[in-house]
Amino acid sequence: MKVRTLRRRPAWPALTKHQKEIAKLTLRQLFDQDPQRGERLAVEAAGVYLDYSKNRVTDETLRLLLQLAEQSGLRESIDAMFRGDKINVSEKRSVLHVALRAPRDATILHDGHDVVPEVHAVLDRMAGFADRVRSGAWQGHTGKPIRNVINIGIGGSDLGPVMAYEALRHYSRRDMRFRFVSNVDGTDFAEAVHGLDPAETLFIVSSKTFTTLETMTNAHTARDWLLAGLGGEQAATARHFVAVSTNAQEVARFGIDTANMFGFWDWVGGRYSMDSAIGLSTMIAVGPENFRAMLAGFHEMDQHFRTAPFARNLPVLMGLLAVWYNDFFGAQTVAVLPYEQYLKRFPAYLQQLTMESNGKHVTRDGRLVDYDTGPIYWGEPGTNGQHSFYQLIHQGTRLIPCDFIAFARALNPLGRHHDTLLSNVFAQTEALAFGKTEDQVKAEGTPDWLVPHRLFDGNRPSNTILLDQLTPATLGKLVALYEHSVFTQGTIWQIDSFDQWGVELGKALAQKIIPELEAPSEPALSHDSSTNALIRRYRKLKGAS
Ligand code: F6P
Repeated sequence: MKVRTLRRRPAWPALTKHQKEIAKLTLRQLFDQDPQRGERLAVEAAGVYLDYSKNRVTDETLRLLLQLAEQSGLRESIDAMFRGDKINVSEKRSVLHVALRAPRDATILHDGHDVVPEVHAVLDRMAGFADRVRSGAWQGHTGKPIRNVINIGIGGSDLGPVMAYEALRHYSRRDMRFRFVSNVDGTDFAEAVHGLDPAETLFIVSSKTFTTLETMTNAHTARDWLLAGLGGEQAATARHFVAVSTNAQEVARFGIDTANMFGFWDWVGGRYSMDSAIGLSTMIAVGPENFRAMLAGFHEMDQHFRTAPFARNLPVLMGLLAVWYNDFFGAQTVAVLPYEQYLKRFPAYLQQLTMESNGKHVTRDGRLVDYDTGPIYWGEPGTNGQHSFYQLIHQGTRLIPCDFIAFARALNPLGRHHDTLLSNVFAQTEALAFGKTEDQVKAEGTPDWLVPHRLFDGNRPSNTILLDQLTPATLGKLVALYEHSVFTQGTIWQIDSFDQWGVELGKALAQKIIPELEAPSEPALSHDSSTNALIRRYRKLKGAS
């Protein structure tokens, strides 16, 4: 199918016109007109319930958005991804994270070769290793069992593992410590190893490329720390370092035996890798069985995305709604608000997933886009956010679509806590949608001068995602839901959601600046006057010449 440029797809101008027609329509009116709306505009699949009724959409909006999806070739794009086509055009790579969670008996081809057996071979090796560490059979250099696991990685090699560890902490080994070092700021490493015995510490160096500046700097510091603590015996590293990477050559060059390396493949993007060997720390924390349950959850959502009609397809609906607000209402952000303390790192994880994927300014064939692409994703767990930034969402001048995420059953049922927590989810979405009218405010006896301050205009959209309980499987479903929503958005915008060239320039400039900061005498500087002056001031402040 030949896909036209975005503005030429018939649904695009139709949506522009339609938005003008319904811009003044309120959620109050929409709900009054249709008493069944709350049940009608909701979908349940793979155990995930999505209520999207509190969005500023009519049946016509949804019809046009679904048309846009068809006219954008979404069906063909989904098939192309699952087929292993090289849809990451700028890096000439397939995008097959769905293969990471395919069941053993599935077949997924990459360059004519079934990758599923390799995926499971790595998973089996990971499981064997995780079991040995968890049981104490894998011992440190001095014969002590491993009590501390430190993942060293950054971006996709950190955010997924740290998010998953926090999310699944309830299922994790409580007699072991799991820490995560990502920042090149030495404080991150220093604090992570504070109070730890090197003889009981295992480092997992996680890096797809094994060349990332931050990760390699931290890995070298970790090796120095370990050797200093274990009497300088080089042989100690073999029992205390394992690697997760696609780059066996660099792993060996660092000094890690490739027998202790867990591989993955160039068809797994960094931000789509938490379910690959990059999840080794997760697997050690929660055990292979729970890890496999998480993969099964991912897979269930993959199957839903692949097969469900778009009108009942959770990631497609969420992706289309994000496009609707981003491109037709000028909304610049999406707030993700998990009412689940264990998901405290979920918004940070989503920031890379969404913004590194869809923060693009050219189409797949290199033309400058003339519409907005990826919105800014951000958020914090509820109810904490309510006492901080929700004021702006309720009464500020910006439109901020929100995703509320909640679970029906608490992992830590304590008295009235969970009902109180959930009452806040429902109260917030209700308040955002329907607000409080002038009459209501006045009826409360509010003096006239105070009325404008206490008014809530409402009409502020939200999705509510309700699941049964936070388990490894539901976590997998939730992550896959957002992965595929990102894919849907990227397909509509005709961008490459799987490259990340935007991070390169800063990396290259930092490499140039490092020697300028470390030079014993003042180097000749050829940056702009601001950067030159900052470098000189820094050198002076730190006592260099
Ligand atoms: O800087 C961006 C990035 O390339 C991310 O896409 C990636 O997740 C991260 O760096 C880490 O890369 P690596 O796993 O190769 O160390």
